[in-house]
Amino acid sequence: MNKKIVLTGDRPTGPLHLGHYVGSLRNRLVLQETCNQFVMLADVQGLTDNVENPEKIANNILEVALDYLAIGIDPTKTTIFIQSMIPEIAELTVYYLNLVTVARLERNPTVKNEIHQKGMEKNVSVGFLAYPVSQAADITFLNAELVPVGHDQLPVIEQTVEIVRRFNRIYGEVFVEPQAMMPSNEEVGRLPGIDGKAKMSKSLGNAIYLSDEPDELLKKVMAMYTDPEHIHVEDPGKIEGNTVFMYLDIFGTDKEQIVQLKEHYQRGGLGDVKVKRYLNEVLQAFLEPIRTRRKELAKDPAAVMDILKKGTAATRERAAVMMQKIRQAMKINYF
Ligand code: TRP
Repeated sequence: MNKKIVLTGDRPTGPLHLGHYVGSLRNRLVLQETCNQFVMLADVQGLTDNVENPEKIANNILEVALDYLAIGIDPTKTTIFIQSMIPEIAELTVYYLNLVTVARLERNPTVKNEIHQKGMEKNVSVGFLAYPVSQAADITFLNAELVPVGHDQLPVIEQTVEIVRRFNRIYGEVFVEPQAMMPSNEEVGRLPGIDGKAKMSKSLGNAIYLSDEPDELLKKVMAMYTDPEHIHVEDPGKIEGNTVFMYLDIFGTDKEQIVQLKEHYQRGGLGDVKVKRYLNEVLQAFLEPIRTRRKELAKDPAAVMDILKKGTAATRERAAVMMQKIRQAMKINYF
């Protein structure tokens, strides 16, 4: 009963890919065994920069839920819920807005970077600028202790901790200070895109999706970035920065075989096509059971939505209890 409360979430803006798997999904499979894990479909946050595309967010709720279930997130161990269906989060966000200055939000490096990337410098909405405040509400309405996130989310978690400290100082100790949980080392915590760029992402168009069909997967693997100076088969090749070998290190199961391939590649005489064919086999074997399970689950979308509905109902019960404590601490529990 004394399990740690863990919260993570994803903006439902598209199906999940191998980068999500390496950066967070596989960690969730571990955490659900020992912690009280909540996984949130962050549709409210997704809407902050998809104002004009509500159907994109709505459609991806099911897609992302299918990805979760297909990789083995188990609804009897992990509570999956939808952010917008917990109005307490919105309520708490309003209270927190008083505890943060506009200047502090404008200085948040993650938000700053996103504003720049999306070209929103001149017209950023209040909702987008303040998403870290809403995220602080996500984390604290459950009094979550652990928040597994990628390195780029660290400034957002820091902002949550500041809000918690300020809240606790003014209103009394209501919240625990949440802790960010990072992938143990940057190399295995982040998967490069198939183009070799540092990050796999939908917007960069360099992603392999958990739901990719075998032929799409093959096409992507064959187009992968390798060693640009490895032109002739007999040339010695580099494995550092070589995407194909980085993927093999993460997804390969026959470590012996990989060591031999690396040696051969560095020595010369091993062509990219051969290594890619091997990686294709490895990834097909990895994705095949996920894809099969996903298709099976997709046959009954109502059953998947029911899992979300139950998870959301259970989460709301907790939210109500927590909100009473919060309102009491803030002296706004009139009746
Ligand atoms: N900001 C996170 C992302 O973009 C998603 C998210 C929303 C989240 N609320 C959260 C993550 C609460 C952890 C905890 O990936």
